[in-house]
Amino acid sequence: MATISANGIWTAEVRRLARERDAVILAHNYQRPEIQDVADHVGDSLALSRAAARADAGTIVFCGVHFMAETAKILAPDKTVLIPDPRAGCSLADTISADDVRAWKAEHPGAVVVAYVNTSAAVKAEADVCCTSSNAADVVRSVPEDREILFLPDQFLGAHVRRVTGRANMHVWAGECHVHAGIDGATLRARAEASPDAELFIHPECGCATSALYLAGAGAVPAERVRVLSTGGMVDAARRTTARQVLVATETGMLHQLRGANPSTRFEPVNDRAECRYMKMITAEKLLRSLREGVVEISVAPEIAAAARRAVERMVAIGNPSRGGE
Ligand code: 13P
Ligand code: SF4
Repeated sequence: MATISANGIWTAEVRRLARERDAVILAHNYQRPEIQDVADHVGDSLALSRAAARADAGTIVFCGVHFMAETAKILAPDKTVLIPDPRAGCSLADTISADDVRAWKAEHPGAVVVAYVNTSAAVKAEADVCCTSSNAADVVRSVPEDREILFLPDQFLGAHVRRVTGRANMHVWAGECHVHAGIDGATLRARAEASPDAELFIHPECGCATSALYLAGAGAVPAERVRVLSTGGMVDAARRTTARQVLVATETGMLHQLRGANPSTRFEPVNDRAECRYMKMITAEKLLRSLREGVVEISVAPEIAAAARRAVERMVAIGNPSRGGE
């Protein structure tokens, strides 16, 4: 598809169809490069949801995974939200159902449920407040000290938040993303040792997030070179860094934005096989079809959407979504 994109025909056709349909195209940082390049906005999951809520267009074409398109629909209920392939799921979101949350709450009456945005609308509807990788610590700090917290569904993000907040009465669901769990501490250590001057950008969902901070704590990597960041935070940090080399621990689609943000730094993946097959289900052909045929429309039942919206809006009122996640 790169050839079609390169000669501009595909790009021109996508833009023409978007105008015709009064559509705005949003793309997550892990999308294929040609999808990122044709989109109106590229960003992390929360930034895109907020762009959806602000959009003037009547239709949003969400190039990302299903829970992200659902969040856009929750925040922009009057707009038509399309996803080019509704099978683009998320292995992390799949680790917990609304029934699981209800059963967990029954075991901890009075606990506050904090749900990462990587969850279905039905799970968000069971939560008190949502969080993203960029504001999870602020959200946890906003919960009164004496209230237990049920944090779901990512165990590595949960461990990171527990570490930075020092929160003891926080229970963490044992979910993980198969892509980020596969970026492990041993791989990170080997890469960091081979490139002693490189900075490390680590997504908090990674299996190596704990190891990165341990390496920093043990003096193996200078602490100021280790940054735990959301995908949006990585782009901000890429613009500011003066390092010659940055090792990036997250899904490899991220490299396209980072390299564009700062061409004088070398951005390299910690694990070059860390690819999310769900994100990559959104292809150039499917985006064209989505715009031509108005498919596939996302719908969320009104009562679920209303409850989920409360949890998302509470997060927006507390957290600072533009921060980097440290
Ligand atoms: P961000 O919110 O940091 O973009 O992360 C979303 C995600 O799915 C990470 O795998
Ligand atoms: Fe879900 Fe992991 Fe893919 Fe992100 S990278 S969308 S958490 S499966």
